[in-house]
Amino acid sequence: MTVSRRSLIAGMLALGTLPLAACGGSGAGGSSGGVGSGEKKNPEDILVGLAMPTKSSERWIEDGENLKKQLEDKGYKVDLQYAEDDIPTQVNQLDNMISQGAGILVVASIDGTALTTQLQTAADNKIPVIAYDRLIRNTPNVDYYTSFDNEKVGVQQGTSLLIGMGYLDADGKETGKTDPANIELFGGSPDDNNATFFFQGAMSVIQPFIDKGILTVKSGQTDFEKVAILRWDPATAQSRMENLITSTYSGGDKVQGVLSPYDGLSIGILGALKSAGYGTADQPYPIVTGQDAELASAESILAGEQYSTIFKDTRKLAEVTVAMVDAIAKGEEPEVNNTETYDNGEKVVPSYLLESVIITKDNLKAELVDTGYYTAEEVGV
Ligand code: GAL
Repeated sequence: MTVSRRSLIAGMLALGTLPLAACGGSGAGGSSGGVGSGEKKNPEDILVGLAMPTKSSERWIEDGENLKKQLEDKGYKVDLQYAEDDIPTQVNQLDNMISQGAGILVVASIDGTALTTQLQTAADNKIPVIAYDRLIRNTPNVDYYTSFDNEKVGVQQGTSLLIGMGYLDADGKETGKTDPANIELFGGSPDDNNATFFFQGAMSVIQPFIDKGILTVKSGQTDFEKVAILRWDPATAQSRMENLITSTYSGGDKVQGVLSPYDGLSIGILGALKSAGYGTADQPYPIVTGQDAELASAESILAGEQYSTIFKDTRKLAEVTVAMVDAIAKGEEPEVNNTETYDNGEKVVPSYLLESVIITKDNLKAELVDTGYYTAEEVGV
């Protein structure tokens, strides 16, 4: 707590909201006094730097736009930048935001370990930093984290794979089915802290079925390092699936389930399966999972191709992040709901975690259309 309070005070200095008395009072690193009760800057005088990873995935476009709009509605100035999954570009963007006088930074990192120098500069300039959806690692200079319960997202992915394959019922209870089946596993980008949470969560429900000899990862590729897809790149996932089909399934065996942690990968995986003759009445697609409820996957689910996705409402993530920015700017302590899980290697980062929802054909309309996330026309329902 002392660390985050210190960071908060640092933030207040940057924003000019810490009373001078507090600066002079208890000396460097002083941990009490005056936060939130001093002179405030107006939102109009505060530039919020938003560093997003890429526009190649629709979710980050939504995230960026939601954040920008909600911040601007509150009067803040916003600098929104996308780095096209290129680490040096993101580094430059952060340098620029800092030199342009950003008061607060909200960062969805590409490589969660690559921003140490920039965040040190941010700290030196008393700029508070919120890690957005992806934890920034190996630095003390990240003040808060907003995301979803990433371990639970993984559990939901594994659970939906097993529901789709008939081993669990809709409530997640074992159905008693013991028919053997082949599966393959995919992981997210190894430099994204979330990817290991997703994989561990998923394997916590899948592994018991492997141990019982019901499910077999026929390629033998079960280590995260083996199955991880750098930068979450759909083309890499597609070619890995093609290679798996050639190396493991050319003798007539079929794959009945594929754990995919992200919709972009799922679409690539389905493309490889389609080219290999899956997706017909005789040779149906395996159960393929996903994440992010991207439009292409919503359509694919309705078409009976991809089985499931995990819906993480980016509107809500933007809301809690904007509330955090606003609280920091006003000298208040932002609301968090987790102070245990997200150790970034230097400290446990106080977090606000949201809940996610498994989406299949059955609840897609209710969750994605009736809530206004997509229009009926967009998904074609
Ligand atoms: C993760 C994020 C996922 C997905 C993935 C690929 O960090 O939590 O929801 O978007 O990146 O973009």
